Amino acid sequence: PLSAMEQEDAIMEELGNLHGIPLFRSFIEGWPQVKAFQARPDDLLISTYPKSGTTWLSEIMDMIYHDGNVEKCRRDAIYNRVPFLEMKVSKGPSGVEQLESTPSPRLVKTHLPVQLLPTSFWEKDCKIIYMARNPKDVVISYYYFHHMARIHPNPGTKAEFLENFMAGKVPYGSWYDHVRGWWEKKQEKKILYLFYEDMKKDPRQEVQKILYFLGKELAEETVERILHHTSFQEMKKNPAANYETMVHTLMDHSLSPFLRKGISGDWKNHFTVAQNERFDQHYQKHMAGSDLHFQME
Ligand code: A3P
Repeated sequence: PLSAMEQEDAIMEELGNLHGIPLFRSFIEGWPQVKAFQARPDDLLISTYPKSGTTWLSEIMDMIYHDGNVEKCRRDAIYNRVPFLEMKVSKGPSGVEQLESTPSPRLVKTHLPVQLLPTSFWEKDCKIIYMARNPKDVVISYYYFHHMARIHPNPGTKAEFLENFMAGKVPYGSWYDHVRGWWEKKQEKKILYLFYEDMKKDPRQEVQKILYFLGKELAEETVERILHHTSFQEMKKNPAANYETMVHTLMDHSLSPFLRKGISGDWKNHFTVAQNERFDQHYQKHMAGSDLHFQME
């Protein structure tokens, strides 16, 4: 349990507003450095709306970058191996500072909506992999994450959180704008757009898509090792991937583990029939006219 001092030190934040996007105030303070971030041409950006499989994709990418060498991928925690671009909390280096001391080729994580991505990534024509997940599973995962990752404001009840999520009143704003914004950008830029549900159904095929995108070939047995090492069960027990090494004032796994369930369709255990109907209506309205489609399980 946390001592009183640690409790006080907990960094639960009210959200500020970054160009119309609700975001943690400490992140907004660091925004000038993020905006001016100098990408390198061989940076690879991993972009997601929160809770869409960022850590999973990050572990897969680090394994690909290290030719399936499991030991090398245990060299440090995932949040240090793949620095979080816009991250800034009161203690420790910011994401930008971490990235500045990371040797190339770098893997970079962001949750920024497409319109806020530092322009340098476009100027340097960096490769980008976006991963999207269906919003019903995202909102449930995000709800539990609000409890364990203590920078987040109090999420209230599940029903309240659902309303806030639909209204875009959560960190990083509207899920709809995020997935659609990045989807549309794909028309003009080098973006590989992946889905969590596809990765669950056929991880081998999705890893092959990534390899093709990178122009990289790996032996069948290497791919096999990558798939095994990045399975939910393996990642859940891997301290370098499961966030359990993070200071407990920032993440409390006793409230909800970071690798919580790792399935598609868990929302069915949480949504009421009425909530689901309301959500479907809202979804249809906000996805109207888009050729972007989600598998809800
Ligand atoms: P759940 O809360 O539904 O379990 P992010 O990394 O973007 O924060 O996403 C976290 C979600 O991805 C969590 O979802 C987590 O369990 C899931 N996840 C992480 N690693 C995974 C893996 N190897 N396989 C499937 N899901 C994984």
